[in-house]
Amino acid sequence: MPLMESLRPLRSTPDNHQALIVRPISGALGAEISDINLAKCANSIDQIKAAFLKYHVLVFREQTLNPIEIKNFAKYFGPLETHPYIKGLDEHPEVAPIIKEANEKINFGGGWHTDMSFLSCPPLGSLLYAIDTPEFGGDTLFANQHAAYESLSDYMKEFVGQLKGLHSAASQYGLNGDSEKRSEARKSMSLGISEKAHAQVSHPVVRTHPESGLRALYVNRPFTERLEGLRSSESNALLSFLWSHCEEPRFTCRVRWEPGTVTLWDNRIVQHYALNDYDGRRREMRRVTIEGDRPI
Ligand code: SIN
Repeated sequence: MPLMESLRPLRSTPDNHQALIVRPISGALGAEISDINLAKCANSIDQIKAAFLKYHVLVFREQTLNPIEIKNFAKYFGPLETHPYIKGLDEHPEVAPIIKEANEKINFGGGWHTDMSFLSCPPLGSLLYAIDTPEFGGDTLFANQHAAYESLSDYMKEFVGQLKGLHSAASQYGLNGDSEKRSEARKSMSLGISEKAHAQVSHPVVRTHPESGLRALYVNRPFTERLEGLRSSESNALLSFLWSHCEEPRFTCRVRWEPGTVTLWDNRIVQHYALNDYDGRRREMRRVTIEGDRPI
């Protein structure tokens, strides 16, 4: 789609007097939906779901949501997951606080990844609600993994389409993993460490979206440990290529946060990256995760 056309706000259903305004935020993925209160959006949920399938990342501004309202909105997309390694709010364990204090150096999610691909049924999507944001910095990047797949040569598509990747949470939540090594530098997050994080699950390297049928690459740096059936040197080389390819700027969009911003993303087709460029300033978010299917 030409850039000018992609930047023009679109009415998602022109014949409906309550049609939402859906404004794409990059040529690759992502759209902003304005003039909607997510605490009272039952009449618009079909349009929101259609936009979610089309744009993969949706941004809503100026929301005022309590934990119950955050959960109720996310539940339109499916049952909620309790993160196995992040401690949620006492009264709402499915709502995870994501906090970086002004005096902390390490953020959570500060590298390209797909949420929880170490589960046999990884989440359908995640929702982040901004409570406190730095004046500048702390944006989140998203990358369209269908676009990344489509841009491969036909030979490479055929080859990687036959492969499976082994995923685990070991590098993050395992013994001697990131959580353990960085616990002092990231005190405001309560992240678990467990031997269970070393368990591996196998997922196809190319997954088919269960609703749209789009094919997408499904490998990510922290959780995909190796490619099955290849020698280590082959697996390392191919994974390095795929990781870098998946993260190319041409597949991305960037979300700027302010208090009250909500972003919902489709983990079946995007990776994301929380930028850590706000040293000396505070950022606090609430995250919920929606259960998903086994990748096929
Ligand atoms: C995450 O990876 O879920 C955190 C994203 C963010 O804080 O922007």
